[in-house]
Amino acid sequence: MARDALYVCQSCGATHGKWSGRCDACGEWNTIREEAPLAPGPAGKRQARGAALDLTDLGSAEPEPPRTRAGVEELDRVLGGGLVKASALLVGGDPGIGKSTLLLQASARFARQGLKVIYVTGEESVGQVQMRARRLGLEGSPVMLAAETSLGRILATLEAEQPDLAIIDSIQTMWSDSVDAAPGSVSQVRAAAHELTQAAKRRGISVVMVGHVTKEGALAGPRVVEHMVDCVLYFEGDRGGSWRILRAHKNRFGPADEIGVFEMTGKGLIEVRNPSALFLGERGAPVPGAAVFAGIEGTRPILCEIQALVAPAPGGSPRRSVVGWDGSRLAMILAVLEARAGLSFAGTDVYLNVAGGLRVTEPAADLAVAAALVSAREDAALPQECVIFGELALSGGVRDVAQTENRLKEAAKLGFSTAILPARTRRGASHGLALREVRDVPGFVTDTFGDATPG
Ligand code: TYD
Ligand code: MG
Repeated sequence: MARDALYVCQSCGATHGKWSGRCDACGEWNTIREEAPLAPGPAGKRQARGAALDLTDLGSAEPEPPRTRAGVEELDRVLGGGLVKASALLVGGDPGIGKSTLLLQASARFARQGLKVIYVTGEESVGQVQMRARRLGLEGSPVMLAAETSLGRILATLEAEQPDLAIIDSIQTMWSDSVDAAPGSVSQVRAAAHELTQAAKRRGISVVMVGHVTKEGALAGPRVVEHMVDCVLYFEGDRGGSWRILRAHKNRFGPADEIGVFEMTGKGLIEVRNPSALFLGERGAPVPGAAVFAGIEGTRPILCEIQALVAPAPGGSPRRSVVGWDGSRLAMILAVLEARAGLSFAGTDVYLNVAGGLRVTEPAADLAVAAALVSAREDAALPQECVIFGELALSGGVRDVAQTENRLKEAAKLGFSTAILPARTRRGASHGLALREVRDVPGFVTDTFGDATPG
């Protein structure tokens, strides 16, 4: 009996019995494609019985897998302390953001550390990559290069050469002839990522796969790949600007949510050792609507400026526009300000921006966002040289956050003199900062702005 074709959502990988315009599983439109079923076994055949497993106990765990540092701190930290042997990584990001540049530079670094490195490109010619290497001043690095999209040939090469590190740029261009689907489809991406991950484990190779993110923010077939690999890194940034952030989204061998900051220059990416200075930019006299948030990204404190603009909305529904923060969290803070402090933003457009292209996900930024909003609304600047952090509850209370001392230390290092922070916080030293504790939103508003105009 011929097996029926499968209809697979290219966004979430869900399978359906028939085609439809919208995937029931993830709600995406126009993502369902017909694909041949995975290698069918003979009809009626049961799973063969294998040999019993060799079991072991928790205590006799193997030693930590060996790691190699690239010697680029921004990269090594995101990797959790260096590249782990026999691991599979996915590096995702928008087309043109700089993934190939990053990995070519990383390849050269690892090669200079003594690793045997193979860089396989499925997107460019060997000549193009060599030209880029020359531009980056890497032509003397012992990286081996090939342009190929056939998975079979790549696996054969890995077997023959036994490299320590293999870069596959990109996973969406690779195709396996055992899968009857177009390159870039979920089936192909899944098969290629599976084979490469297996090869990584079996041969002790670190395999780095590049994946392009689509406009909608998903890699084609990425969810399936994310589950397979040990580590998922995203390379982000505003393509118009020159800052790039490498963010660990998942890491089996280290902390997730760690970030590395780079600048894209005419000579490739250079690491930014002091990102707080970068995200704060040039600071002159304080202006209304700007608040400095003392944040934590992974294990590292990062100060950034949160900017708000509140403008009258002539009729219609007012705009709420957010860059670098969560839109629904903004709605919540506006509601808390209105309900608990009597400050209404109805009838005004609200714009919120995190300077420097950083994306802040910490709830600890709530109080700084509230401060920027009230400061913009009142047209009154916040105190000079002041950092702010704290989480808001719906009740209007200001909650304690983690790593207070780290935040204060970074603020002191960058010359700030005051911190507005949750009351009763568990903190260590104040690092010479004057601390202004706040219990709730109304208290914060009166302390900071005097009698703000209600309504
Ligand atoms: P690339 O690494 O090709 O992006 P991806 O692999 O993510 O698609 O980066 C391409 C962009 O980076 C391109 O717009 C040019 C820019 N770039 C520089 O600004 N400086 C450089 O030294 C290099 C190599 C690229
Ligand atoms: Mg590329």
